[in-house]
Amino acid sequence: MRLDVITIFPEYLEPLNVSLVGKARARGVLDVRVHDLRDWTHDKHHTVDDTPYGGGPGMVMKPEPWGEALDSVIASGADDARPVIVVPTPSGKPFTQRLAVELSAQPWLVFTPARYEGIDRRVIEEYGDRCDVREVSIGDYVLAGGEAPVLVMVEAVARLLPGVLGNAASHQDDSFAPGVMADLLEGPVYTKPPEWRGRGIPEVLLSGHHGKIARWRRDEALRRTAANRPDLIERADPAAFDKKDRDI
Ligand code: ADE
Repeated sequence: MRLDVITIFPEYLEPLNVSLVGKARARGVLDVRVHDLRDWTHDKHHTVDDTPYGGGPGMVMKPEPWGEALDSVIASGADDARPVIVVPTPSGKPFTQRLAVELSAQPWLVFTPARYEGIDRRVIEEYGDRCDVREVSIGDYVLAGGEAPVLVMVEAVARLLPGVLGNAASHQDDSFAPGVMADLLEGPVYTKPPEWRGRGIPEVLLSGHHGKIARWRRDEALRRTAANRPDLIERADPAAFDKKDRDI
């Protein structure tokens, strides 16, 4: 998968060199290219922002550098290749595990993290005519820029790529994973030693009985979801619950 990030703070994306994403790059699973938006400015001060039409506080990112940057990045791809453009913004659609799965199936993503009050709207319209443009929010809070959301989204997408996680099955049990865990939070986990500060581990986990362990895990997931995210249980399809689920 190819990932491009266009930003005025390329150094903000340095964590993409470490840990899981860094290893995926080193192994050639991910081709990550970080670009400095100011490389596509032509004035002495490398200006990327200006005052908003209609007045109001803050500054708006100018369309020209974004247009040149996106044209150049898109032209660097194969002949007819069109990336999915991901625009982080608190006004976007929520970033969910479902969207992470969808994006992980794409061959090429371009992220356009903005600073200030956002990017001139015409840029979104212009590329929306040529590419699939997704405005995405990572949560109901406002950050100073889209770079941290890009780190969040890239990590969520990268760990789903084949060959990135040691155990390919491990993300099937994740909270929110499509399938059995859709709309459920993952329950508690334990490792050795069997006793720590007088605290043991649930007996069933030592039973070796896979059916009972799976049942216990689902019960714990339901319990935790009811406690922490009752909204998820309420919106779930009742047909997805079995009789034992309802007895919890
Ligand atoms: N930029 C600023 N806040 C954001 C958020 N919550 N999600 C995505 N991009 C953002």
